[in-house]
Amino acid sequence: MPDFLGENWKQKQAHYFIDKDSVDKVKINLAANNITYQMRDVNPQIFKVRRRRDLNGAITINDVNNRYLSYDEQMQFLNFVAQKYPDDVKLQKLGNSYEGRSITAVRIGDDGSSKPIVWIDAGVHAREWISYNVALYLVYTIVSQPAYRDLLNSVQLVVVPNTNPDGYEYSRTNDRMWRKTRSRFTNSRCGGADANRNYPFYWGTQGVSHSQCSEIFCGSRPQSEPEVLALTNAIQREETRIKGYIALHSYGQEILYPWGHTQRTYPSDVQDLIQVGKAMASAIRAVNNTDYNVVNSGDGLYPAAGASDDWAKSRGIKYSYTIELSPIDD
Ligand code: ARG
Ligand code: ZN
Repeated sequence: MPDFLGENWKQKQAHYFIDKDSVDKVKINLAANNITYQMRDVNPQIFKVRRRRDLNGAITINDVNNRYLSYDEQMQFLNFVAQKYPDDVKLQKLGNSYEGRSITAVRIGDDGSSKPIVWIDAGVHAREWISYNVALYLVYTIVSQPAYRDLLNSVQLVVVPNTNPDGYEYSRTNDRMWRKTRSRFTNSRCGGADANRNYPFYWGTQGVSHSQCSEIFCGSRPQSEPEVLALTNAIQREETRIKGYIALHSYGQEILYPWGHTQRTYPSDVQDLIQVGKAMASAIRAVNNTDYNVVNSGDGLYPAAGASDDWAKSRGIKYSYTIELSPIDD
């Protein structure tokens, strides 16, 4: 079973991670289906990234821009930003991960009014490290740059920079390609569920696995993962005010819109989602000429049920997306 890493839609490439033992089998299958492919050993690269040591001292935006932070360092950075901008930034604990790490939301521009909320979360998939830094960068940039004052007067942002802290720490210290949570099951050699298959909407139907060892194991039941329970509870508490939802993932350089639990099935206001998706893409293009593809997640990527974007949309959050960030070499 190949493990999907991401894609490069411009070059029409899909990237998979396979283990050494299945190389020959995969080669035979690809050839039999006339699929052109390249294979390389990614172990040296993984090893190099993992060996980079953390530096000492206070965490600043320079660290966010230049390296990956440990979970504790991410929290230090958020505390620093909250202290520096006390009027704009409030930290809110949403719950605990399976291993007891706190899942923290950064509320930006929460002035007690009933302004619309845009909710952005990151890193549900542990190995998608860049998404954590993007979320932290976003928090800092929005509060530190005067250009965003007007924006914050009209909307409130809730950013959850790390929705899977256990998985992230495990990917830093034990297995760079770890994707899931770290929940343990009795009498099983495998642990963890794909939290982006664990949301309670068409749960367990397509693009999931019900076996615990799979990278896309959807969990024993909807919201079996404490991380997902914390996030769904927090969103539901204020869902009527949340007008936008974005889940940050990597990679693909794509803005994905619902539905994603199956193919060729769209919400009735899909034209609005496409329009705003394209506006986001052109705003991104205007900065560095980076070309984001706006596409339905089921058709353009693959059907995957129980994902957060679909669930958010099902709760009435109109503009709900998954953003697959850019691969480094594009
Ligand atoms: N790469 C993401 C995943 O596999 C994409 C999720 C897109 N959304 C969806 N509902 N299928 O989880
Ligand atoms: Zn992902």
